Amino acid sequence: MALVVPSVLSADFGRLAEQVQAAEAGGADRIQIDVMDGRFVPNITVGPLVVEAIRRNCRLPLEVHLMIVEPERYLADFANAGGDLLIVHQEASPHLHRTVEQIKRLGKKAGVAINPATPLATLQEILNDVDLVLNMTVDPGFGGQDFIQSMLPKIERLRAMITQHGASCDLEVDGGIHAETAPLAVRAGANVLVAGSSVYGDAEGVAAGIARLRASLS
Ligand code: DX5
Repeated sequence: MALVVPSVLSADFGRLAEQVQAAEAGGADRIQIDVMDGRFVPNITVGPLVVEAIRRNCRLPLEVHLMIVEPERYLADFANAGGDLLIVHQEASPHLHRTVEQIKRLGKKAGVAINPATPLATLQEILNDVDLVLNMTVDPGFGGQDFIQSMLPKIERLRAMITQHGASCDLEVDGGIHAETAPLAVRAGANVLVAGSSVYGDAEGVAAGIARLRASLS
């Protein structure tokens, strides 16, 4: 069964600890924290201080999605703040192998993300070195966007590529994941689902949002 990873981007930051604890109580597998710098993406969110605050209020593994330029400069900060899985963007990492090795030397799991228009070929040399590949299903920067349907064949090709390379990394998708798109993404080959607005925007609450996602996969 696919992992469900709520993204706090769509949470109520006025009561972030409660919101994270609601996701934990609701059966989330991990929590994703979206870090944005206003340069790699046209939005600014949080830094290591917020990761640290979430770490103090949650027992789940934390994945930190670094939508920033020069992510290699901040890996130790996010590792020390409590990030368990650090995800950098291929588009922002000209020395991706060195950056992945740096994450591993910090004792953390390493992930690499690619934007919708970035070719899968950019990943083939790093697949066997990372714990997770994140295939973005929206253009990063904001929650609540629509799932880009043309990503489905890309997810299928990425799953085939992982198999062909004998890699063991997870295939994560992020952006517009809800009860309708989640089964499509899983059928295409995703095994980790990031969901922000469909979890934190569920009228019946966070646990119901997570349950709805899981029910869509059964
Ligand atoms: C990039 C962010 C968002 C967020 C999920 O923009 O990574 O994709 O996590 O947002 P939803 O689930 O609301 O599309």
